[in-house]
Amino acid sequence: MAQSNQQDALIAALRWQIAMGADEATLEAPVSRGIAPPAEEPRPAAPAVRPTPIRKTPPLGEAAVALAASAQTLEELRAAIAAFTGSPLRETATNLVFSDGVLGAETMVIGEAPGAEEDRLGKPFVGVSGQLLDRMFASIGLSRAENLYITNILPFRPPGNRTPTDTEIALFLPFVLKHIELAKPRRLVLAGGVAAKGLLLTRDGITRLRGRWHEVTILNDKVLKALPTLHPAYLLRSPISKREAWSDLLLLQREIKDG
Ligand code: URA
Repeated sequence: MAQSNQQDALIAALRWQIAMGADEATLEAPVSRGIAPPAEEPRPAAPAVRPTPIRKTPPLGEAAVALAASAQTLEELRAAIAAFTGSPLRETATNLVFSDGVLGAETMVIGEAPGAEEDRLGKPFVGVSGQLLDRMFASIGLSRAENLYITNILPFRPPGNRTPTDTEIALFLPFVLKHIELAKPRRLVLAGGVAAKGLLLTRDGITRLRGRWHEVTILNDKVLKALPTLHPAYLLRSPISKREAWSDLLLLQREIKDG
């Protein structure tokens, strides 16, 4: 009803304009002469422009440092690593590989990263290189059943067993340092270049670093002796290098006796 009233008014206005001699349009759009145009449909409100959010999550390194610092026990540290979402390795791995051996052992071995077997079983050094590692330490009276504690720089297997990147090593280092602090070993054995590079903060290769004791400062500013040595996986590929590994083991044996 309201619409037909409005149409009648428009037709009357048009007739009046024709009667007044206005017989052609000179503007592109009609001009309303006293009759209000139909009210426009209300437009939906334009979405409010959102200000750039202030970053609430800390950068990954800080997140790892904060999570590691919050752990007061090894169980809490394991849970903190499991809760750390800052690395895609967590998504591709089957299990978190935390540690094996005797809690409170004086000698702590730090390897590189879990391989396929370790990923499957959730324990470090359980594949072929782990078997060699066990034989090497057994030759100087050490075993994970009695007096060795073992972990890795990375708690998750890199896809395809590739070498950990520098970024991955740095990302997980706060957890490794906390692990050492909580496990309280007297000395470290760094198995391979990745562990040596990560903990000795050097770019030198393992062949330059091995064969002598170094010092590692951990989070509570305690300094620990650390012996870099050749990784058992490398020894499997290069059996001739077992000579050097044996001489490293003798250094470790002497340190255990004298230290
Ligand atoms: N190599 C490592 O460095 N760590 C493991 O746990 C297995 C293989």
